[in-house]
Amino acid sequence: MLIAQISDTHVKVPGQLAYQRVNTSAMLQRCVAAIAALDPRPDLVVVTGDLVDLGRPEEYTYLKALLSPLPQRVVVIAGNHDEREATRLAFGADGYLPARGFLHFVIDEPYPLRIVGLDTLVPGEGRGELCVERLAWLDETLARQPGRPTLLLMHHPPFLTGIGHMDDIGLDGREAFADIVGRNPQIELILCGHLHRNIQTSIRGRRVLTCSSPAHQVDLDLRPDAPSCFRMEPPGYMLHRWHDGSMVSHQAVVGEFAGPYPFFDAGGLLID
Ligand SMILES: [Fe+2]
Ligand SMILES: [Fe+2]
Repeated sequence: MLIAQISDTHVKVPGQLAYQRVNTSAMLQRCVAAIAALDPRPDLVVVTGDLVDLGRPEEYTYLKALLSPLPQRVVVIAGNHDEREATRLAFGADGYLPARGFLHFVIDEPYPLRIVGLDTLVPGEGRGELCVERLAWLDETLARQPGRPTLLLMHHPPFLTGIGHMDDIGLDGREAFADIVGRNPQIELILCGHLHRNIQTSIRGRRVLTCSSPAHQVDLDLRPDAPSCFRMEPPGYMLHRWHDGSMVSHQAVVGEFAGPYPFFDAGGLLID
């Protein structure tokens, strides 16, 4: 199974730039075109939150139009820039989101992986939260299928990154979440967003990562007093390949680059 991950698309209404600089819609269009052209074709596309910038219904309408060239199923979770009911309204017809409450979901079929989406959104705040109710839902959900390889999706990463201004709007409930992960070795990978760059670690032996954005990236600045800044580094997405019982993650960049060039000539000799 091949899964494409897009994160932090921050779509605004047509004609508006994010932070008065970033044409997030045009950049998402390029990312979508790159994924739509992939061979082999991903089986599923997941979008790990901050789908739109201001949580407005018209932004979701535009987002859906921008995602529509993707031939495969697209599954979304909410981030801190999203509005829960507007997200539900926009994607509710796709059948996996609940009719009320948190935007958690489970997709059991038809994939070899069980896909579990977690809602870490706190309305009106940048930080995320896994409260007692949400942790209980996760615990019960994972306990129902302990033998099935599982992919977890959540916008706020359940770890501190060292990028201080982002850690300040990080996830509350990390310790209890880690305990649940420790009890559920069927979790193959935890996919997050929020950081607008690829960061990887492990929690209780399970791999967890944040995905780059198809638009702006959070500046890599590990000074304790680093200002809250973004940088127009190469935009990206990720490809996660589940094969023979193991998951391999690839970072992809979006853009025009020279190549591909062959290593060998027609006679099989190394070109030096
Ligand atoms: Fe974001
Ligand atoms: Fe975020």
